Amino acid sequence: MSLEVIVLAAGLGKRMHSDLPKVLHQVARQPMLFHVLRTANSLNPSKIHVVLGHQSQLVAEAIEQSLEPELRSKLTLCIQSQQLGTAHAVQQALPNVDPHSQVIVLYGDTPLTPKADLENLLEALKANSMSLLTAVVDNPFGYGRIIRNDLDRIACIVEEKDATPEQKAIKEINTGMIATTGELLQEFIPQIQNQNAQQEYYLTDLAGLLVQAGRAVGLVHATAPELLAGVNNKLQLSQVERIYQEQQANRLMMDGLTLADPKRFDLRGELTFGKDCFIDTNVIIEGKVVLGDHVSIGTGCVLKDVTIGDRSEISPYTVMEKSELKRHTTIGPFARLRPGNVLEDEVHIGNFVEVKNSHIEEGTKSGHLTYIGDSDIGAGTNIGAGTITCNYDGANKHRTTIGKNVFIGSDTQLVAPVTVEDGATVGAGATVTRTVPANALFVTRAQPRILPGYQRPTKKKK
Ligand code: UD1
Ligand code: CA
Repeated sequence: MSLEVIVLAAGLGKRMHSDLPKVLHQVARQPMLFHVLRTANSLNPSKIHVVLGHQSQLVAEAIEQSLEPELRSKLTLCIQSQQLGTAHAVQQALPNVDPHSQVIVLYGDTPLTPKADLENLLEALKANSMSLLTAVVDNPFGYGRIIRNDLDRIACIVEEKDATPEQKAIKEINTGMIATTGELLQEFIPQIQNQNAQQEYYLTDLAGLLVQAGRAVGLVHATAPELLAGVNNKLQLSQVERIYQEQQANRLMMDGLTLADPKRFDLRGELTFGKDCFIDTNVIIEGKVVLGDHVSIGTGCVLKDVTIGDRSEISPYTVMEKSELKRHTTIGPFARLRPGNVLEDEVHIGNFVEVKNSHIEEGTKSGHLTYIGDSDIGAGTNIGAGTITCNYDGANKHRTTIGKNVFIGSDTQLVAPVTVEDGATVGAGATVTRTVPANALFVTRAQPRILPGYQRPTKKKK
């Protein structure tokens, strides 16, 4: 039997108080919906149906623009134009569901749903017409409660808003995830009524209907109930984020990464690393980051889409994006690498230095207060404090080329396009507007004058 997954993502998310549809709110910088879709996909389904409704256009755009194409190609989007309840949402997908398939229903607002729980649901489906993921929680407020009969089997599910005080005291709740077959959904969903406190068609009524029809409904206990908390507000969103970050940090540490404090570490993408890497507190990793062996990242760094070679040391509060650093580089504190840099072995970029779209060869140093943009710099060169590549003429960007073993004195402006050849020296305070030939000294300094015994003006008495 093939497997199909239906993901419900049409809800408005009133309690988020936001212009954004609920399922686009992010966990680790990815829409909640994407997390759910990836988990769904990990079960190798033949189809994934996504039910969109509230601001469906925005959700469809996010899928189109940011979801990985392999996964996108498996999706069938359907629109629930009015949000009349979870059963009504499932119904929108049913015309495309193969009756001979097994079907899992997931919620777009439950991004941490573990794959193992879904596998357990499928296992339980072998002996039941439907299986249902439940959890026992201390605070069941807001959830549907599992009502059991005299034989201690499930009788039905009662929603919070329809529950009597005795029912509200029940701590066994419906997580919302179910497994059943396309055939049963097509037979029973149309029978669900909306005579309840919210006048909605509840998917949860399916359990009671099946039991009444003499079908077996199996309950599966969630492996970790906290992972099935649906996100309805910003507080729950932050709680889910923390759990997710903790899961990632634990996995990285088990793989050998040293984290100064796993509670103060955020991974919003993918991190791979070699041996003996150390990450200090409050570091944010985004996109795809690759660390070699013995790499150390100081506190407060933000790294996005970068590769950092063996034994490099990134000092605190360095921000870098889309750059490749080879081995033994030393960067920061307070350095900024904007996109497009390649820094070869042993390059040093110090504090308050900004580098963009530049290639810097082995062992070259720029220690302080500098802007290097659109430049190619040879090996063993020293860039003095306060150097600026004037790469922009107000209309176009131009490149600066600096050879190897060059010495650029402090407070130099290099007006691009311009070249400083190998071994040249530029005296401090120069404005370089033409090629500096190899091994030459270039100075643009006015002759100093000394006027002895100079009297400064004094204030006139009134
Ligand atoms: C639902 C369950 C409840 C369960 C809880 C678990 C029902 C009636 N109740 O309640 O038993 O304990 O989840 O978190 O199912 N949605 C649609 N279309 C709609 C309504 C909802 O697509 O017309 C989607 C939402 O986008 C969301 C999911 O279904 O992803 C759940 O809806 P929500 O309104 O959050 O249900 P709860 O009140 O949390
Ligand atoms: Ca919910």
